[in-house]
Amino acid sequence: MNSVGPILLAIESSCDETAVALIEGTGPLRASLVASQARLHARYGGVVPEVASRNHLQDLPALVQHALAEAGLTVADLGAVAATSGPGLGPALLVGLSYAKGLALGRRLPFLAINHLEGHLLSPFLGESTIPRHLGLIVSGGHTLLVAVPAPGVVWILGKTRDDAAGEAFDKAAKLLGLPYPGGAELDALAEEGDPQAFVFPQGLRHSGDLDFSFSGLKTALRYLIEKQPVSSPGHLRDLCASFRHAVVEVLTAKLLAAQVQTRAQVVAVSGGVACNRRLRQALTETSARAGFHLRLVEPAWATDNAAMIAFAAAHRWQRGEKTEGDADIRPTCDWPVVPLEKTAVDLSTLG
Ligand code: KG4
Ligand code: ZN
Repeated sequence: MNSVGPILLAIESSCDETAVALIEGTGPLRASLVASQARLHARYGGVVPEVASRNHLQDLPALVQHALAEAGLTVADLGAVAATSGPGLGPALLVGLSYAKGLALGRRLPFLAINHLEGHLLSPFLGESTIPRHLGLIVSGGHTLLVAVPAPGVVWILGKTRDDAAGEAFDKAAKLLGLPYPGGAELDALAEEGDPQAFVFPQGLRHSGDLDFSFSGLKTALRYLIEKQPVSSPGHLRDLCASFRHAVVEVLTAKLLAAQVQTRAQVVAVSGGVACNRRLRQALTETSARAGFHLRLVEPAWATDNAAMIAFAAAHRWQRGEKTEGDADIRPTCDWPVVPLEKTAVDLSTLG
């Protein structure tokens, strides 16, 4: 059931999306707007921090006004303000965080600095008033993490990528294949018509015994393959996409299942932009049905960067009586503790 409560405004500016959302209690969501700069960065083949920062500054005030107008609210209706404090690009984070802190200070409202990854992590539960104990897989452009959430607001990293993130691997592969940045979604679409068994790609660390990932070898294998045998037809391209996607999905699914077995998690939440991947969604759905756990897959609309997930994470913290001190600073790197499974007795078998 949704809790009706004061209105919270959230701002997300960690990368190349300027985003604003308004939430009432922990739901319903009153507005969620995203101004993507992806087209501006495409010509550089990646996100340029200063360009991102300048555009956040340009777009943010109008986006806040639009969100308020869309919800039929004014600044006077706000009960709290939140912003992403990290991880992300320093110059980009600084714009959203400073704007939000200024607004909170000026209107004498409570302020909450939110971890961007907590936003992704909780996004499969968006609009719900309680969040169960769960295992989370975050697969985004910047991160690939397997985490345990043993209690509200507590997150332990059980495994992470040692090099490229899953989304980064898709984007680098897409670039090698001549697709525009960020190419994950396009590679996925092309893969639908290809043969996943046409080429064999390495499944890095699949049998490492821990819960870490490695995707950089996969991209190198693709580079060598197309250097030796350049892409010669649309069918060849589709087979490369399907085989590459197959390798990524196999590893993600195998590691997630290993973590689920070890933690005995009843609830498994999957989030981040790569959670839009059609084959990954299919594979995880099949695996959860076989293994008997409850799969919470983020809705594609909330998978890539947005402020609704930040608003939701903030609303839950606020509901627990938390707020951040006014001197909160940006935190460009992830600060969740790494707690490998063998060092903890984490048991996610009850809903908590
Ligand atoms: O969560 P997100 O906005 O990134 C970060 O916060 O870092 O996700 C963006 C990433 C990009 O790497 C993009 O290529 C990837 O998600 N992505 C996909 C798909 N849709 C988006 N990757 C694979 N298949 C998709 N359908
Ligand atoms: Zn993100």
